[in-house]
Amino acid sequence: MPEPVLRVENLDVSFGHGSGRRRVLHEVTFDVPAGRTLGLVGESGSGKSTVAKAIVGLVRPHGGRILIDGEDSTLVRKGALQTLRRRIQLIPQDPYASLNPRMTVGEAIAEAIDPRRGRLREHRPRVEELLAKVALDPTAADRYPAAFSGGQRQRIAIARALAVEPELIIADEVTSALDCSVQAEVLGVLDGLRRDMGLTMLFISHDLAVVRHVSDEVAVMSQGRIVEHRTRDALFGAPEHPYTQLLLASVPKVGPAA
Ligand SMILES: Nc1ncnc2c1ncn2[C@@H]1O[C@H](COP(=O)(O)OP(=O)(O)OP(=O)(O)O)[C@@H](O)[C@H]1O
Ligand SMILES: [Mg+2]
Repeated sequence: MPEPVLRVENLDVSFGHGSGRRRVLHEVTFDVPAGRTLGLVGESGSGKSTVAKAIVGLVRPHGGRILIDGEDSTLVRKGALQTLRRRIQLIPQDPYASLNPRMTVGEAIAEAIDPRRGRLREHRPRVEELLAKVALDPTAADRYPAAFSGGQRQRIAIARALAVEPELIIADEVTSALDCSVQAEVLGVLDGLRRDMGLTMLFISHDLAVVRHVSDEVAVMSQGRIVEHRTRDALFGAPEHPYTQLLLASVPKVGPAA
């Protein structure tokens, strides 16, 4: 078996100090093999974003290991950590907050391609290629983020994440702020990337219908623990854990872009 791109082992995270200390993750363990998408689903507050933040180093775990291509990211030195982190790109929930309003979309993508001297002029062909991958017109490069809809901005954020050529993309609630038809547009783009580029992805959402659409495997979280982790078809076909059954029962029958 090849080494998984990402392995999370017995991850423990707590917040607060003294008597206010609260454990948020309990021995969270999973793998994401190359070219696959793992969906991480669970109720609000179950700890999904905390898992994502721990992986990219925004939250410090107090136990467990995070292995990126077999390397323990909690052990590497600071300088090397930046290189390691470039291999994993987190697409935030609100791309508007992460896109500089004073930079054109092309400049923002060029900067991701080459953080030191990312000039749009030099990187134009690659920028246009990335825009095409997320179904945006080449002229989008010359416009500012404010000129785009929510779904288009989310696709720009995906293009920017792809510019780094990451080994793994973590998408945290990328479609949650979008209405149904726009959700389908973004999911369609992610689906195409999975098919054409063999993208490896950790796809986080509280929305089971959305997770079902893009995932090969699904891990279900409840109160900081993974309670069930199976292939998508197995999980949706015959959920075993009572919590998964409850989640499934509450999904509306009409899914996005089925
Ligand atoms: N920086 C922090 N300090 C204290 N508590 C935090 C912090 N970040 C998250 N928490 C708590 O940790 C728990 C898990 O939060 P997390 O954001 O991981 O949930 P989530 O599953 O992503 O929820 P949602 O679906 O609403 O995004 C919550 O109870 C939250 O209040
Ligand atoms: Mg979250």
